[in-house]
Amino acid sequence: MKLPRQFFKPLAIGAPSPLHELPVQLERMIHFIPPHIEKMRAKVPDMIKTVDVILGNLEDAIPANAKHAAREGFIELAKNNEFGETGLWTRINCLNSPWVLDDITEIVAQVGDKLDVIMLPKVEGPWDIHYLDQLLAQLEARHSIKKPILIHAILETAEGVNNVADIAAASPRMHGMSLGPADLAASRGMKTTRVGGGHPFYGVLSDPDEDTNTTRQFQQQDLWHYTVAKMVDACAAAGIKAFYGPFGDFSDLEGCKAQFRNSFLLGCAGAWSLHPSQITIAKEVFSPDVNEVKFALRILEGMPDGTGAVMIDGKMQDDATWKQAKVIADLARLVADKDPAMAKNYGF
Ligand code: GLV
Ligand code: MG
Repeated sequence: MKLPRQFFKPLAIGAPSPLHELPVQLERMIHFIPPHIEKMRAKVPDMIKTVDVILGNLEDAIPANAKHAAREGFIELAKNNEFGETGLWTRINCLNSPWVLDDITEIVAQVGDKLDVIMLPKVEGPWDIHYLDQLLAQLEARHSIKKPILIHAILETAEGVNNVADIAAASPRMHGMSLGPADLAASRGMKTTRVGGGHPFYGVLSDPDEDTNTTRQFQQQDLWHYTVAKMVDACAAAGIKAFYGPFGDFSDLEGCKAQFRNSFLLGCAGAWSLHPSQITIAKEVFSPDVNEVKFALRILEGMPDGTGAVMIDGKMQDDATWKQAKVIADLARLVADKDPAMAKNYGF
């Protein structure tokens, strides 16, 4: 374990200093695109205006014979666009793949100054973060990169879930973490072929009632509740952000919304969008509800210094609910800065 005094020192001479705080960014959806497809690259200028983060995917879903084209396509789209406040991320191949070293070295060499975050799949423990951390510092120094490139881990192996708290705290370069329900299901031996979402057989059956002999009610439960909650605790404790990952059934907009919303209520900042319809869902779900925001603002106004106890609409408020209100109001302000229509709805 590195001593606290050493934790924030650059890992290579000439590398930028690690950040003490994460940049404050609205990241409601991380929008995945396959960068080897020219038609998708052509959509990037318009996409920059509608999403919070654009991610060029190099890993799963990119065929082995297109890995090189995807990397080149990502470098091209990064060079040819100005991203402004929209985040530019890439998901590189996993650390035991034959492609990952070139993914990292070529992307940092060519567009390292534009890249905000590298998403690292299949992270098993803090050692994976330490490896990428050191390599990025060396490359940043070599290519005179001015700001540190952050790391976002995907939580998608049983070993990774076991080590989640250590992964979250592995480096000041950690931006956050996403649930990877497809790989995680496979790694754990879960019996589902779905990418995220529930399963009709996973639920609780009410007790039989011998007196009335009525039909027993079956209530579907959330397969991902435990993992998302564990991930949120690990991330919040380390001061980084948690995200729901992918929802694979593009035809089930309501199901997607319900999963995203659960993760939002539990503490996640955003989710992946794999299809344009999911951008709209994520925008709605990860922007706080107008009525919640208005109530939160009343709490903040009712307790200007954040201490004491007041009643609002019959509900007790104190220092703790003031903090809850601040979480919601701060997020609403971030949304409002980006979206004038939402600013108006919130009454800012
Ligand atoms: C995402 O990468 C997943 O495995 O669900
Ligand atoms: Mg995966």
